[in-house]
Amino acid sequence: MLSIITIVVGYLLGSISFSYLFGKWFKGIDIRKHGSGNAGATNTLRVLGKGPAILVLLLDALKGVVAVLLGVWAAPGPDDIWIRVLCGLAAIVGHNWPVFFGFRGGKGIATTIGVMATLCFVPTLIAGLTAIAIIAITRFVSLGSLILTALLPFLIWGMDRPLPVLWISILLCAFAFLRHRTNIVKLIQGKENKLGQKRA
Ligand code: G3P
Repeated sequence: MLSIITIVVGYLLGSISFSYLFGKWFKGIDIRKHGSGNAGATNTLRVLGKGPAILVLLLDALKGVVAVLLGVWAAPGPDDIWIRVLCGLAAIVGHNWPVFFGFRGGKGIATTIGVMATLCFVPTLIAGLTAIAIIAITRFVSLGSLILTALLPFLIWGMDRPLPVLWISILLCAFAFLRHRTNIVKLIQGKENKLGQKRA
């Protein structure tokens, strides 16, 4: 029962859309109507600037960390890894489809980083550093995000991490590609926004 409650709490936690709240607090706007229309750190950078964007990135990642740790607290046994995985997944589902904001949220990358770094730090670190290098070279955050999530299952498999962690990484990769559909089309058409570019 406690495990189910923590999964629900994970979803509610994930549903707190910091980019939406910061848009309202700092500028009185709905961030989903500006820039790329995404409720995430990259669009916060575009619309609200560096400070709020860094805060959104950290807080969105923290939601994932806290959700997994809630799972560890509720089910600390070595065989209970599924509970942690489901708590983390719930936070990402909450971020992407938030109950508090009409189920219109973000693309889940920062929360995915928080969840996966807590579940398997080294593979996430390697994937994260690769993504940072790709973003630094191309200036496409979306491309870095997609490569990050696509790399994770291979790294987790190669490093022999537990099966539930491998399964969630595959699912999160599918989520990321689904949520980045328009970015993928724009990347192919050469119309994707570059980091530092103001307009979507
Ligand atoms: O994590 C979101 C990022 O990959 C793309 O954001 O606003 O450019 O669609 P955006």
